[in-house]
Amino acid sequence: MNIIVVGGGGREHAIIKSLKKNKEIETIFALPGNGGMKDDAVLVNISATDIDGIVDFAVNNNIGFAVVAPDDPLVLGAVDALNAKGIPCFGPEKKAAIIEGSKVFSKNLMKKYGIPTAKYEVFDNAADALSYLETAPVPTVVKADGLALGKGVLICNTRDEAKNAVKTIMEDKVFGASGNSIVIEEFLTGPEVSVLSFTDGKTVVPMISSMDHKRARDNDEGLNTGGMGTVAPNPHYTKAVAEECMNKIFIPTIEAMNKEGRTFRGCLYFGLMITPDGPKVIEYNCRFGDPETQVVLPLLKTDLFEIMKAVSEERLSDINVEFSDEYACCVIMASDGYPQKYEKGFEIKVNDNFDAELFIAGAKEQDGKLLTNGGRVLGVTAVAGTLPEAVEKAYKEVENVSFDNAYYRSDIGKRALEALKEG
Ligand code: AMP
Ligand code: GLY
Repeated sequence: MNIIVVGGGGREHAIIKSLKKNKEIETIFALPGNGGMKDDAVLVNISATDIDGIVDFAVNNNIGFAVVAPDDPLVLGAVDALNAKGIPCFGPEKKAAIIEGSKVFSKNLMKKYGIPTAKYEVFDNAADALSYLETAPVPTVVKADGLALGKGVLICNTRDEAKNAVKTIMEDKVFGASGNSIVIEEFLTGPEVSVLSFTDGKTVVPMISSMDHKRARDNDEGLNTGGMGTVAPNPHYTKAVAEECMNKIFIPTIEAMNKEGRTFRGCLYFGLMITPDGPKVIEYNCRFGDPETQVVLPLLKTDLFEIMKAVSEERLSDINVEFSDEYACCVIMASDGYPQKYEKGFEIKVNDNFDAELFIAGAKEQDGKLLTNGGRVLGVTAVAGTLPEAVEKAYKEVENVSFDNAYYRSDIGKRALEALKEG
């Protein structure tokens, strides 16, 4: 069978490398992919948001299955458009992708169905939001309703900061129409855990938990990024927490979506905070996380394509999804300056003795060389029997990869190691 994977980052490279292990798959086309994937997939120069282009390509190239990985095409309805042409997909339909596409939707869903999350208010005009902020408790969190490349969440320590956030989002429209409505919510504290899950709307199977490192600089300083590294499993996600999440969050969310007529089939990502009052949902994503996927899939023992087909055919309960009991650490090598301004076009060199997983996110091929072409350039993932070994190995292998202007955090896994020590 020939399949397409829509998207072009490190997450998609990890998905493609996992899918390649399946013998039924002949060719994987990446739309658009990136130059660093060319040994693993056939690159097709169609943008991930060009829904008509994606559908035309799939119809004309005898595509038997599609994996739609990024948020934008899912929210735009790529799966609906492919399904309409008879092409089975892994990924939610538009009406279910709204769980990420609109924070107002997801907050109201959680309130209606009693799923634990931060208290919040919704505003569709700046004047009301500003007047609410006159007396609102701080710190507070201001969130644009729609997709904003992971930048639409502003943590505000003072009322003035919060008012500026409202003005930036609703008046200056820095996130465009995504800021037509906003959520202002209670500031929560506690360790964060990412849990990706497979679900077909009937069964929900959490994957191994992970910990993202969102800030650009060491010690969680600097700007928010898409993610600078990950470890799995997350030591804060104990058996007791996992059980509570299953009963109070995962199953209730799947059931709530069914009741709303928005059955979710695909990968539902739970961004959780383990607060003093128990686990709460910080955000839902309608897709695999990046770089979470770069530690989760290397630990998956079950065939990914078999799981994806089972999800799309609503028979996930037939599959025994198994993860290795090892640990993984992914260090993202970025272009210095990311997430703001950075230079690109530098050659990426990998030593012959490199011995880890390499997931390329922002690169292009030119004259037989691989050049940097994005903020997050690549992820180096090491798997080992213990977390300290996985972290040490990832950093050792990072030394085997080089490009000018490379930047990476030197403390990925540090907090997880401390948490393990504290037990
Ligand atoms: P998001 O883009 O929704 O993942 O949010 C980015 C980050 O902002 C999260 O990973 C949290 O660290 C933080 N955050 C979001 N909502 C809250 C909240 N209610 N309280 C504290 N931190 C939050
Ligand atoms: N790493 C966070 C996300 O994928 O949204």
